[in-house]
Amino acid sequence: MAIIGIVAVDRNGAIGKGGRLPWHYSADLKFFKETTTENVCVMGRRTWESLPKPLPNRLNVVLTRGAQIAEQPGVVALGDKQSALSLAPYLSRDVFVIGGRQIFEAFAPEIECWIVTEVPLAVEGADTFMPTDFLRGFAPRESRLLGDGLTVTFYERSR
Ligand SMILES: NC(=O)c1ccc[n+]([C@@H]2O[C@H](COP(=O)([O-])OP(=O)(O)OC[C@H]3O[C@@H](n4cnc5c(N)ncnc54)[C@H](OP(=O)(O)O)[C@@H]3O)[C@@H](O)[C@H]2O)c1
Repeated sequence: MAIIGIVAVDRNGAIGKGGRLPWHYSADLKFFKETTTENVCVMGRRTWESLPKPLPNRLNVVLTRGAQIAEQPGVVALGDKQSALSLAPYLSRDVFVIGGRQIFEAFAPEIECWIVTEVPLAVEGADTFMPTDFLRGFAPRESRLLGDGLTVTFYERSR
């Protein structure tokens, strides 16, 4: 069991625009699905609202301080980070922190590895960005081409 951050960023560190992903790359969606399926995906309420339906074959953990999340199979709403972390040891699955920015920031101290897809764009009008220093203390271990001009890099803590 590991706590893993997974994110796609453009050349300027943008991750979102108007509450959605500012691009559509099937190679990255396929990679995201293959990587996270059968595991746990922790997300913020805004990211949850950007999904058409719960991520299938994954436990969807939605963090909210007060919003009502409709009950449905495969979805758990929790009120704080600690509640999510206290579940983790009992799940015997990897916990993928899937965003958005608020959730990446909240879980930064616990994230053991980052999986970062570099998107070859500079999105105009993006409104959500990764913290500039999110990879401080991490070192790249491996990079892979995903297709569609995308590269994914796996980072591990170096200190
Ligand atoms: N490129 C990528 O890989 C990627 C990945 C994910 C998301 N995104 C994009 O990022 C944007 C959304 O990011 P965001 O930062 O605005 O929102 P977010 O992190 O998805 O959600 C924020 C919400 O999560 C809840 N929350 C945050 N911290 C919490 C805590 N410590 N405890 C309990 N609840 C907490 C709050 O919900 P309440 O207001 O309900 O209390 C808060 O309003 C969208 O554009 C999305 O498409 C991009």
